[in-house]
Amino acid sequence: MKYWKKLSQEEIKDRVFGALSENINFNESNILGIPGSNLDEKVFYQDAPFLKDAPFLSTLVYNPNHIGCHTLGTSEHFFKGTQQIEQELIKICAEEILKGKPNGQDGYVASGGTEANMQAIWIYRNYFRAEYKATNDQICILCSEDSHYSMAKAANVFNVDIAFAKTDENTRQLDVQQISELIDEQKSKGKKYFIVVANMMTTMFGSVDNVDIYVEALQAADCPFKLHVDGAYGGFFYPFSNSGCKLDFSNPHVTSVTLDAHKMVQAPYGTGLFLIRKDYIHYANTKEASYVEGEDFTLIGSRSGANAVAVWMILMKYGPYGWKEKILILLNRANWVIKQLEEANIEYYRNADSNIITIKSKYLTAEIADRYGLVPDNHHKPRWYKIVIMEHVIIEKLLPLINELKALSEDSLAV
Ligand SMILES: Cc1ncc(COP(=O)(O)O)c(C=O)c1O
Repeated sequence: MKYWKKLSQEEIKDRVFGALSENINFNESNILGIPGSNLDEKVFYQDAPFLKDAPFLSTLVYNPNHIGCHTLGTSEHFFKGTQQIEQELIKICAEEILKGKPNGQDGYVASGGTEANMQAIWIYRNYFRAEYKATNDQICILCSEDSHYSMAKAANVFNVDIAFAKTDENTRQLDVQQISELIDEQKSKGKKYFIVVANMMTTMFGSVDNVDIYVEALQAADCPFKLHVDGAYGGFFYPFSNSGCKLDFSNPHVTSVTLDAHKMVQAPYGTGLFLIRKDYIHYANTKEASYVEGEDFTLIGSRSGANAVAVWMILMKYGPYGWKEKILILLNRANWVIKQLEEANIEYYRNADSNIITIKSKYLTAEIADRYGLVPDNHHKPRWYKIVIMEHVIIEKLLPLINELKALSEDSLAV
């Protein structure tokens, strides 16, 4: 890999401090026109000795603003050092994880998965309006009922309709026939253009959509569409657990992808990633952002450069092989859990390449779920509860839950 290489702590430190030295220094230089500065020195350490060994905390203190999109050529020159780290991060994610062409994608570090999904839908809505003279009521978001609620939020904010495809209760898979009927139904309501959001691991189930089903149905219906992949949960997991992944830029139908480093990567909150093939992001250009060097192509506006630095640091610390190993460990633990559930005849859903295990609610009580922090699909009427195998979810912590579930299922058999 050209950009993603395992680095030592010292190399990471050198790179980040080198980048900070290329940014402007508010205290040393005579910068008078920016409504920004270092973090407030009365509250936040500026000269503490430990900061010399803490590149992320130092970046927070220097407080670079990464406003705008840095893969397009021109951006605020004040923060060019840390912007370069963000550019490299975008390349690692778009080219080396998601198999995009060299220099073939734009992107930025968004506030999270919600914003990145909304950014995609915003771009495609404007694309259909600009290229097809579409009106909002001719555009429809199409996604599965297991999709994250950010799609419904986007429909509301961008004033377009949304149609949800059903998924099978046990396999969580899309149904070809049902999707075709749904498209026909939407066409009969005047929808002509579709913004498809396919899931690379859903929030509740870790299920992965068969993207070909959408593509074939929309092509058969002769409907123009754009395809976004929501990999907010799975983007740093599934490409490493499934080598045949079709939800990346190697698939010509995929135009954009959301990733979220504040989930599986354990980066600070505020580290979503929005990635899109070249020649699309301009549909989200706000020309009125004339005081911003390079203008703005993002939903968010000002954003912390420390977020990009944090994600870059984590990925470089592991390197690609270390990252794959981390994923394998989580998968092994998930395998252990499902073996226990099967022995106890407890029904669950799990995609074989995922670290989410979702158990039917009839196999546990609300009290047990609460005690172990299991998250329901619906707080008012839970039908499923999920276990997410994160770094801290080790077998020693899982064992008491498994024992309680086994005891409960034995009791119910005895009744
Ligand atoms: C699949 C999926 N998409 C989008 C999101 C939204 O991410 P965020 O909470 O970072 O906005 C989530 C969050 O759980 C998710 O699981």
